[in-house]
Amino acid sequence: MSRRKVAILISGRGSNMSALIDACRCEDFPAEIVRVISNRPGAPGLDLARRAGIATATVDHTTFESRDAFDAALDQALREAGAELVCNAGFMRLLGEAFVAGWRDRQLNIHPSLLPSYRGLHTHERVLHDGVRITGCTVHFVRTEMDAGPIVAQAAVPVCGDDTPDTLGARVLDAEHRLYPEALRLVASGAARVVGEKVIIPAGKRVPPSLYSPGAEAAGPGAGPEQAGHS
Ligand code: GRF
Repeated sequence: MSRRKVAILISGRGSNMSALIDACRCEDFPAEIVRVISNRPGAPGLDLARRAGIATATVDHTTFESRDAFDAALDQALREAGAELVCNAGFMRLLGEAFVAGWRDRQLNIHPSLLPSYRGLHTHERVLHDGVRITGCTVHFVRTEMDAGPIVAQAAVPVCGDDTPDTLGARVLDAEHRLYPEALRLVASGAARVVGEKVIIPAGKRVPPSLYSPGAEAAGPGAGPEQAGHS
């Protein structure tokens, strides 16, 4: 089986990055991580990646005179790494039109809300403020508009009456760690395709565990959300 070469872009702690690295350890996962790139030299995720045996690079946005120059250097670093797909995982920079066009339908992002609701920062605070009962997370293809683009997969997460932004954020993050590898598998395997700014996934590629859309097959025995005891 050929595995798609994936680079991960981070800015911080890198827990979603770690979830992707772990998923790619499985031999029958259709992707491998070839590089982790941070725009912040001190990002804790860089250490985690190195300890996992993944090559890292830093493209420090503060050292560039313009956004275009930063985007061009990032693009070059991705191409040098041989990346075919890019996964943004807590990457806190908006990318310009040329960069986004160059990686169109080959760049994913994860966001901690059920898009198109609650784009931007402080999602959990805003969800709690609004009294929303169900929130979640979304993996989508990147477009120039922040937190917008064709949706690959979503997981719903209940909001509890006594939730704080931290407790809700932890519950959503747990769902993110399960959702992102499933979404990457759908994209890397070619099962998920963008058609007219929507993602089409053939019915045969879906298994419908509750709270997930589309449902995903297990990456290996016991690795799926249902087998892992989540619902
Ligand atoms: C996650 O909540 C992700 O959805 C958002 O930024 C956070 C990154 O966390 N885009 P981590 O660095 O993956 O731990």
